[in-house]
Amino acid sequence: MAADLIVGIQWGDEGKGKIVDLLAQQYDIVCRYQGGHNAGHTIVVDGKTIALHLIPSGILNPKATNIIGNGVVVSPEALLKEMEQFEDLDGRLLISDKAHLIFKYHEQIDRAKERLRGKNAIGTTGRGIGPAYSDKVSRQGHRIGELRDIDTLLAKIIDYFKANEAYFKALGITPPKEEELRTELELYRQKLLPFVVDATNYLWENMEQGEHKILLEGAQGTMLDIDHGTYPYVTSSNTIAAGACTGLGLAPKDIGKVTGIAKAYCTRVGNGPFPTEELGPLGDRLREQGHEFGTTTGRPRRCGWFDAVAAKYACRLNGCDELALMKLDVLDGFEKIKVATAYEYEGERIDYVPSDLENVTPVYVEFDGWDKVEGIKRWDDLPIEAQRYIQALEDLTQTKIGIVSTSPDRADTIIRK
Ligand code: GDP
Ligand code: IMO
Ligand code: MG
Repeated sequence: MAADLIVGIQWGDEGKGKIVDLLAQQYDIVCRYQGGHNAGHTIVVDGKTIALHLIPSGILNPKATNIIGNGVVVSPEALLKEMEQFEDLDGRLLISDKAHLIFKYHEQIDRAKERLRGKNAIGTTGRGIGPAYSDKVSRQGHRIGELRDIDTLLAKIIDYFKANEAYFKALGITPPKEEELRTELELYRQKLLPFVVDATNYLWENMEQGEHKILLEGAQGTMLDIDHGTYPYVTSSNTIAAGACTGLGLAPKDIGKVTGIAKAYCTRVGNGPFPTEELGPLGDRLREQGHEFGTTTGRPRRCGWFDAVAAKYACRLNGCDELALMKLDVLDGFEKIKVATAYEYEGERIDYVPSDLENVTPVYVEFDGWDKVEGIKRWDDLPIEAQRYIQALEDLTQTKIGIVSTSPDRADTIIRK
């Protein structure tokens, strides 16, 4: 049985956590396939808020098994902290032995490099994501499965520090002391190794048996993809649907329905191009009404209008079968709502995403606003202006909007037939 997939189609924080949690009630296995604790996925059930960074958002379904795939970079420290929130994770959390480890020095490199970049800083989350993926790709990273043999792992890390001595010195980073590192690794081995498995094989077996439904949970968003996003202002993994294949060991034909998650407007945290950004009071109003402050870093998110050109590009890249439109209630009370339907670029009007997105000017169409959609659970109860807005976004993105979300709560969701 093919695995269904959830993917962010903007710059992250679209509301993936809410939808994965909602859908997870019908799935048996939920997997993260890329990213790390740079992600912050928020779930609200009966007024109680839970923020997840590494553990898949299926964890609130007591029957689901949650998998951290090989494409994820894992900070053992962050994971252990997150695990403390849940009582019995035995059999409910599995970690691929091929997932790479994030150590404190990766965080230190991340922050030191951001300081050196000065005004060109990417605005990373400072979680060591880029440096951990860099070490993986340059074949000097360490996999979580290596915790099985601490002596060898420790020796490798010490060799790594020797080989990169000049680099660490230039960044002002002091290598950890051997004994401290050993104690740390021992702790990780003891606490995490019981969860470490061959996750790819586990998934293949489940797919062959065909009894269990599998859901794949993307982190970040399409426009932050290392290849297809606004490079270099991106994260260090393939955030698009294709990342699920490499990040879990699945073949393209193993992927079933793809649902893209989009906000009814747009946000971005960190630097880089954002054509529809509203720098004035309307942007402030979106930030306030949408509580647009990062789940991971608390930073204020940049806010602006729905970018239908970028959304259409993302739907094509991910092969979205449908979209979930989130946070429609945040537009409550706006008299007019703008949507970018094209860009002006090099003196021409275009409807595609060029690789130098910083050089486009959005072309807007204005829609009438509505009074209130907050908490609405049925399509027919939506004001006609909201229905028209949603239908226009479907036309512009050429993708059906199958889910509409009207509050953070799991219950406040319209599932369209
Ligand atoms: P993710 O990273 O894609 O999982 O999204 P985040 O959790 O970082 O950010 C989305 C925020 O919007 C969270 O605080 C959610 O609780 C909240 N949220 C999700 N859906 C809705 C919605 O329909 N309306 C409102 N007002 N908030 C929502
Ligand atoms: P979720 O899964 C929004 C952004 C950072 C920065 C860039 C690179 O919650 O949607 P990194 O630390 O990954 O090297 O930072 O990517 N970023 C996110 N923005 N949501 C996220 O995750 C993000 N994860 C990383 O702000 O601009
Ligand atoms: Mg988030």
